[in-house]
Amino acid sequence: MKDSASKNFFLSAVVWLCVATTAGAIVAFKFVYPDWLAPYSWLTFGRLRPIHTNGVLFGWLSMAYVGAMFYMIPRLLKTDLWSEKLGNFTCLLWNATLVLAVISLSRGLTQGVEYAELIWPIDLLIAFLFILININLWKTFITRRAEHLYISLWYMYASLLWTPLVFLIGNGMLFPITYAGGIASMATPYTGVNHAAVNWFYGHNIIGLWFTTVGLGMAYYLLPKITGNAIYSHRLGMVGFWTIAFVYVWTGQHHLLYGPGPQWLQTVSIVFSVSLLIPVYTVIRNFWGTLEGKWHIFFEEPSAKFLILGGWWYFLTCTQGIFSNALRPISKIVHFTNWVVGHAHLAVLGAFTYFSIAAIYYCWPHITGREISKKFGSRHFWLTTLGLVIFMVSLWIGGLIQGTLWNYKRIEVDFATDQVQIIGIPFIQTVLMMKPYYWLRIVGGLMIIVAQWEFLYHLFKKEKATEVEEKGALL
Ligand code: HEM
Repeated sequence: MKDSASKNFFLSAVVWLCVATTAGAIVAFKFVYPDWLAPYSWLTFGRLRPIHTNGVLFGWLSMAYVGAMFYMIPRLLKTDLWSEKLGNFTCLLWNATLVLAVISLSRGLTQGVEYAELIWPIDLLIAFLFILININLWKTFITRRAEHLYISLWYMYASLLWTPLVFLIGNGMLFPITYAGGIASMATPYTGVNHAAVNWFYGHNIIGLWFTTVGLGMAYYLLPKITGNAIYSHRLGMVGFWTIAFVYVWTGQHHLLYGPGPQWLQTVSIVFSVSLLIPVYTVIRNFWGTLEGKWHIFFEEPSAKFLILGGWWYFLTCTQGIFSNALRPISKIVHFTNWVVGHAHLAVLGAFTYFSIAAIYYCWPHITGREISKKFGSRHFWLTTLGLVIFMVSLWIGGLIQGTLWNYKRIEVDFATDQVQIIGIPFIQTVLMMKPYYWLRIVGGLMIIVAQWEFLYHLFKKEKATEVEEKGALL
């Protein structure tokens, strides 16, 4: 059935959104009650944290992205998805892979590398899933009737090609020799400083060349559809695309400032991180240019609310990333603090989750013929937004204080013995002072979670059927 694969991907995505954010809340409680659930090994911090992160990144966001691509790409190419059957099979296998991922992580099977925790058999399954999606969407491309390739298509098809590469390199599976090492040790084959460098090549590029680029592809599709305006500048869109393709891949080492890696590599990553201003601000110019005269739709449609604020979150997270996290003097204070956790949520929960939710609100009536209640949409938006602001601002304030305390030093001179001592603040005090901020994160987090479970309920609820028209000509 037309759009069935897209629908199943969207539904699965929202189920994983609810499950994985709930796991995040348990992790958040452990920051204030470290002994809570401690007797159960599968519910310990080290196992639940990667379940949360992999669940939201590979369950929620990635499945929503594939759902959106299955919906948007055929329409942009004026054709049908090559195989709904293959799409539905991919969805089933994707869910099964995620269930295996949760089981293996909760049993403590991990590669021990952030965002690359999953063990190699699951990595292989994920690589296979990307092959299936590539086959389906490239076959769709071959049957296209459209002559003009709209900006979204560039972003989406490029992401389909470079994401498997980034994934395979990050998981040590690209070269047979290193892969053999991976099989033998069930761990990543890189070691020492090289390992850290590869890890952040992978970690940052999976964000920049999958979550960012498909997210922007979706936003570029939704903007003219929701506003009724043609896109402000196709040329600016292409400048943004080619500069992100060139610049992003060199930026990962800014995660390792003041780490053990070579200084020159860190400096290169800082230069490229600052150059990200070009692709980011071209997108934002296009975004706000397209919205000209139509900002009022923010108050009318839930999809517009999420899309417009998602654009602002994107602007903020990139500005924050470039000017605070990636520059040495500021990174000296905020690195390793909760500031970074706040920043991470601004990007993946703020910008990309908002774009994905906007896509679901927009596509759902076209797929099912049933609109999600606007009253609920508004509540969904405000509850999520209030929760997110409380969540992020508390971590930013707490993180700044944390970093300042870590950097605090005073000199004490004992004149009797002529001894000089440099004294800092005991680390445990900097842990204890975070408690109020951790509580605020729980409050904000619970608001977000309640809103997402309600969202899931509304997707299953049978709302009244609506007539929906497609404004295709605007692209
Ligand atoms: C779609 C929604 C969400 C996404 C995409 C998301 C994503 C992430 C990511 C990428 C990290 C790793 C951050 C880092 O290493 O700097 C993380 C950590 C975390 N998240 Fe979320 N998250 C979401 C929602 C939530 C919610 C609702 C809560 C509930 C309180 C939560 C609690 C946490 C906690 C406690 C951590 C661990 C922080 C640490 O280890 O210091 N997240 N999340």
